[in-house]
Amino acid sequence: MTFENKTFIVTGAGGGMGEETVKLLLDNGANVAGCDLHTDNLSKYKNTNKFIAFKGDLLDEDIVKDIFKETANQFGNIDGLVNIAGIAQSATSIDEVSLDEWQRIMDINTTMMFLTCREASVYMKEKKQGSIINIGSVSATRPRPGLQSYVASKGAVEAFSKALALELAPYQINVNILHPGPSDTTMLGQFSAESASVDQTKKEIFEKSVPLGSLLKPENIAHSIKYLLSDEAKMVTGAVLHVDGGRNI
Ligand SMILES: NC(=O)c1ccc[n+]([C@@H]2O[C@H](COP(=O)([O-])OP(=O)(O)OC[C@H]3O[C@@H](n4cnc5c(N)ncnc54)[C@H](O)[C@@H]3O)[C@@H](O)[C@H]2O)c1
Repeated sequence: MTFENKTFIVTGAGGGMGEETVKLLLDNGANVAGCDLHTDNLSKYKNTNKFIAFKGDLLDEDIVKDIFKETANQFGNIDGLVNIAGIAQSATSIDEVSLDEWQRIMDINTTMMFLTCREASVYMKEKKQGSIINIGSVSATRPRPGLQSYVASKGAVEAFSKALALELAPYQINVNILHPGPSDTTMLGQFSAESASVDQTKKEIFEKSVPLGSLLKPENIAHSIKYLLSDEAKMVTGAVLHVDGGRNI
């Protein structure tokens, strides 16, 4: 078992990539704390004493603190944080994007990451070890029209994570960025313009944009996360891993 006695906190655990990541880490012997606004789909993992679900808004500082505290109490240590939670933007021209919408996207995709990474650093610095993986998006490298706020938030994920990788390196804490390409989850349809057909956008725009010819599956992302959390990636930090079927080229 790759991750026996290791404990990981996974945000966005109720979503497509999140649930697949929870499952893979549990299959590899880890203890996992899965956090999301919606956790109903995670109830099937509760029969193991290696899993806890936290239902709540990760933009709430107190909730974030409690999650780390309870996880450390239950499992004794926090070895890794995987930030998967995020929201999409429906393709909209900038003149129609409200300040509230811009701020909502920046808050959920970047401020939330700041809050969880800040808390993780407290636990990991003390033990002088840890691994943080922040999920960005290939759109930070290959933007699309109408997604300006989402793309900005994911560019911030990359810059923030690199800065943190350098800052936390003296404590043997690795921080890496994983940029997924278009993936077959509920979120993908949410990038369509309001007037467009979701299925058609998935097929005609997103699938065709991937050189390897198909949408990513959540398990493709989960396996790369597993690698970045493993000892094999011990000397990998501040790296940007594109898991996108070649979309970034
Ligand atoms: N699906 C894609 O094509 C794609 C492509 C590139 C990057 N990404 C990124 O990958 C990550 C996962 O995407 P997914 O496709 O699994 O999406 P998803 O919508 O299935 O999952 C995202 C999860 O984040 C949770 N979440 C949102 N706001 C939250 C909050 N305030 N507190 C707690 N949880 C919250 C949602 O409830 C949801 O379960 C996201 O960061 C997304 O931006 C997705």
